[in-house]
Amino acid sequence: TKDWNGIDHVVLRSPQGASLRVSMHGGQVTSWRNEQGEELLFTSSKAIFKPPKAVRGGIPVCFPQFGNCGLLEQHGFARNKIWTVDDNPPPLPLTDSQGKSFIDLLLKPIEEDVKGWPHSFELRLRVCLAINGDPSLISRVRNINGKPFSFSFAYHTYLSVSDISEVRIEGLETLDYLDNLCQRERFTEQGDAITFESEVDRIYLSSPNVIAVLDHERKRTFVIRKEGLPDVVVWNPWEKKSRAMVDFGDEEYKQMVCVNGALIEKPITLKPGEEWTGRLDLSVVRSTFCSDHLDFQTRG
Ligand code: BG6
Repeated sequence: TKDWNGIDHVVLRSPQGASLRVSMHGGQVTSWRNEQGEELLFTSSKAIFKPPKAVRGGIPVCFPQFGNCGLLEQHGFARNKIWTVDDNPPPLPLTDSQGKSFIDLLLKPIEEDVKGWPHSFELRLRVCLAINGDPSLISRVRNINGKPFSFSFAYHTYLSVSDISEVRIEGLETLDYLDNLCQRERFTEQGDAITFESEVDRIYLSSPNVIAVLDHERKRTFVIRKEGLPDVVVWNPWEKKSRAMVDFGDEEYKQMVCVNGALIEKPITLKPGEEWTGRLDLSVVRSTFCSDHLDFQTRG
């Protein structure tokens, strides 16, 4: 299907009516609806749907750089490019797509990318929707160069929440983090869980592979599982930064939080012919605060 601005997108549906919408612009997941039709990802009402700017919301793919510590544009070029459907992707283990609806996308470098980042690569993304309505994103980066290259990566996941002051994140306690608000200075998390009272922009290092984002008001917990992505970025722009972003409403920081499975502190180096895989699995469980906690502890 085409968007109003002519960009192709694909909608995956589960038998019970959950859906995922994936845009060729950035290979970005722009919507995830549950079986009740509720949108689970945040997209700003002021989002600009015009390449090359990435849409403010959903799950932009950050590659080959995260943030602005590097020579490339903020978060790399992948999210700004038009991807193609990959008709003949190299096989993935069967379990990765069995019983699911999925689409394979591909980004290959064009000359313009090569100027800032002179490496030949293939970036593949398989987006799956399981029968129970849970999304999985599986990215593969292959070096088709004659020499090694290094990169960072993140699934910049904008979760929709009812009220940021009622949200807590579990699974990051006691970890070291780099604070983007202080030149990436290193700190250690002291709290029991992450809660929000002001701007947060942190890269938690070497985190467990399961993180829970509890939305007290909606009695909903997002469970984020990741593989190949040791770090987790937590971002909420709060009041002042919200006002400074043209594609973000002044009050919208209350309804979103970004929790990004990422590979930042120790970029991956691929030798010629080597491939890296990074995977994100999302799910949402409905329960009370207390049982959320226990549930997460048991599974984590
Ligand atoms: C976050 C970064 O992940 O993305 C923040 O940690 C940044 O520093 C934010 O402000 C949004 O970035 P952008 O380029 O999409 O406006």
